[in-house]
Amino acid sequence: MAFMLAIAVLQAVLQAAFASSGDHLSGIIQEGKLHLSEDTTIALRCAKTKGDWCAAFHSQKPVAWKPAPRGNKECPDNCNNVGRCNYDTGYCDCPAGWRGPGCKTRQKRPCTNMFRSPEDQRTEPMSHIGPDKRDLNWTEPGFTPSRCYGICDDDLGMCYCDGPMGRIPAPDDAPPGTPPVRRGRPLLATHDMPSTTYDGQPVHGGHQPYEKVYGPQGYCNVSQPSWAPGCGPEDLAGPYCDEPNEAFCPGGCSGHGHCDLGFCRCDVGYYGHDCARRKAGLPLLPNTLSQRPWVAEQVREPPAALEPPPKATRKRPLIYVYDLEPLYQSKLLQYRLASAWCTHRYYQYKNETRFSEWCYGAESGIHEYLLISEHRTFDPDEADYFYVPYYGACMIWPVFKWADYPYFHGPGGPRVLQVINMLRELVGWINTTYPYWQRRGGRDHIFLFPHDEGGCWAPNVVKDSVWLTHWGRMDAEHTSKTSFDADNYTRDYKSWYQPEGFVTHIEGHACYDPVKDLVIPIWRPSQLYWRSPLVSAPSKPRDIFLFFRGDVGKQRTMMYSRGVRQKIYKLAKDNDWASKYKVLIGDGSDVLGDYSDMLSRSVFCLVATGDGWSARTEDAVLHGCIPVIIMDNVHIKFETLFDVDSFTVRIPEADAGRILEILQAIPAEKLRSMQAHLGQVWHRYRYADLPGLSSALRKQMESNARDPLAKEAEALSATKEVRYPRSFKGDPRVDDAFSTIMQWLYSRIPHTR
Ligand SMILES: *[C@@H]1O[C@H](CO)[C@@H](O)[C@H](O)[C@H]1NC(C)=O
Ligand SMILES: *[C@@H]1O[C@H](CO)[C@@H](O)[C@H](O)[C@H]1NC(C)=O
Ligand SMILES: *[C@@H]1O[C@H](CO)[C@@H](O)[C@H](O)[C@H]1NC(C)=O
Ligand SMILES: *[C@@H]1O[C@H](CO)[C@@H](O)[C@H](O)[C@H]1NC(C)=O
Ligand SMILES: *[C@@H]1O[C@H](CO)[C@@H](O)[C@H](O)[C@H]1NC(C)=O
Repeated sequence: MAFMLAIAVLQAVLQAAFASSGDHLSGIIQEGKLHLSEDTTIALRCAKTKGDWCAAFHSQKPVAWKPAPRGNKECPDNCNNVGRCNYDTGYCDCPAGWRGPGCKTRQKRPCTNMFRSPEDQRTEPMSHIGPDKRDLNWTEPGFTPSRCYGICDDDLGMCYCDGPMGRIPAPDDAPPGTPPVRRGRPLLATHDMPSTTYDGQPVHGGHQPYEKVYGPQGYCNVSQPSWAPGCGPEDLAGPYCDEPNEAFCPGGCSGHGHCDLGFCRCDVGYYGHDCARRKAGLPLLPNTLSQRPWVAEQVREPPAALEPPPKATRKRPLIYVYDLEPLYQSKLLQYRLASAWCTHRYYQYKNETRFSEWCYGAESGIHEYLLISEHRTFDPDEADYFYVPYYGACMIWPVFKWADYPYFHGPGGPRVLQVINMLRELVGWINTTYPYWQRRGGRDHIFLFPHDEGGCWAPNVVKDSVWLTHWGRMDAEHTSKTSFDADNYTRDYKSWYQPEGFVTHIEGHACYDPVKDLVIPIWRPSQLYWRSPLVSAPSKPRDIFLFFRGDVGKQRTMMYSRGVRQKIYKLAKDNDWASKYKVLIGDGSDVLGDYSDMLSRSVFCLVATGDGWSARTEDAVLHGCIPVIIMDNVHIKFETLFDVDSFTVRIPEADAGRILEILQAIPAEKLRSMQAHLGQVWHRYRYADLPGLSSALRKQMESNARDPLAKEAEALSATKEVRYPRSFKGDPRVDDAFSTIMQWLYSRIPHTR
């Protein structure tokens, strides 16, 4: 405790001393150029933090490594040669197409022309394909994104070409797990399907002239067609979508298996959803990541999977990541129809990695971080926390209603209902499969809520757990403020499978509890802030006074953004703020230019809600622009961790119309101090410490540092004209968003007991 106090005092002194230069110093310290005592280093690293979570984390005693526990419960019949045995539980994990004990039951996701009606109580999904897997009648109405004018893969609900370049399924009587005779070229229902039959009758949902797809030079007919669509499934690429490509599996199957569109197929004796676990009694083998350099660049074998090193280096929290029933995680990845969805990274042609701009990317991102982190433990008995890597955002958007399966537990209703029921079912599954839920009533279990309204609609069954969310709304009595009907969690839905409705299962908790939960930054890949001084671009003159580019609600109800964006947009337009005051507010048609460049040239940036959270806090902070927050009773990301008042401006919604006068009244000195303080925390708002991500960032930093403007800015920094925040020169991996979350979690351990 005395130590803690000393740190706090030191921190205060240092903050006063370095009020405006601390940002620069912490960069130097991270590069190891300055030799300071450990206490000083910690104090600097913990600048602008509230409470002692940061210092306490750094001053903890490391935990010794232990050999990982290993399971040896056998599964029946080699999981029917399709599944993966979990030697901890003796249950089979089944990929798409299979389910049930031993993966002995077929689980179809057939292509269909219509969704099941809510009254329909059949348990099997509907289908509009015959035994030959072709659509029964092209001219019959009805369109779903799984409708297929080709050959249907009815394990996945995915469509492929018919004809010479088309799919030939495995024979009906082939043993389970037999691959198709020919995979075929994919046909995405959303863009690639022919719009007529061969004789010109219109069909539903098609986009392309029949000739392009099936004509003499058609994509499905010849090896080098005159036209080819974009590829759908991640594991096919190339100009004609017929070259094998890598697919994303979180953790890259640890170098002990290979990825089948999101489902890891493990080498013999390896198990778990990322093949990181080794069956009891077998020797640990070197991983084979080097055989797939494009995977090796992105991941590493989890430290917990290796022989325990003698030196104690592990820091708490220790986190156990559940190997979930695949339906809640990896099967959903298999069901997505396009690579850029559901994941924070994916492989493009020639296995080139792209970090995704999918706004719910934290879902797979945090999962992958944890899988390969030193915080991960395979031993539930020593775990401080249990992470539940369910893919609810993937379910809610790219999977739900693309085919007539899966439903939790029946069709119909708003899409939030599906994820609510999925979570309820999932907790039941954890509770029957493992003893750890009951032990502490789920208080040490962590759930991520990346969707627009975050944990607002979290089922009550997880209400005592730790929530990581993007949405810091705090009112206890809340109703949905989305403008999007399918996300409206206030409008109840009753049906045969849930006669009581879903609302009763989500009532009685706030969207977020500032004590037990944490509002975390959304996933922003580095290409979205490449011109920022945070990526070593020279600090530019900030010649835009106030900036916002995005949806200003032109096509929306006043529900959207609580009316704030609409109001300010109108004021700015009607009064010509752009030319009078350099205030740029509008959508892409109003405000032109490179988004990252403009943010890094802006003094203030507007942060107002969208349908729920908005990415504007991240966009502002990551560019060193002062966030101007207009959302009542809502915490911004990490608000409970940092002294956000020192680097943001907050305006009540009722005063939104006074934004210009309020900002103009801020004295220059105060502004400089806010900008400097922002420079002490901005790196905490980015995800930067995944292997491929940090090397991408480093490359960008090197290239930005070669910018001719950099020298000029450097010269300027030596004078009084220094621009804040200063260009970041440190190691991007240090204290990024993920490690900030870990540091906070450490401080919460005692409260989960
Ligand atoms: C196919 O569907 C159309 C439109 O419903 C119908 O007119 C036609 O008779 C159907 N063809 C067959 C062979 O059933
Ligand atoms: C497919 O291509 C072959 C060879 O070019 C051609 O003979 C055949 O008619 C084409 N099929 C269709 C349906 O156009
Ligand atoms: C990409 O990865 C896949 C799957 O691992 C592999 O089959 C293919 O050869 C790789 N392609 C290239 C260009 O390396
Ligand atoms: C967990 O299982 C126990 C014992 O079967 C039961 O009493 C409890 O209600 C279950 N809790 C949940 C959340 O399912
Ligand atoms: C959501 O549902 C509630 C209750 O039915 C309703 O009052 C509200 O207007 C709905 N919101 C939207 C955006 O439809």
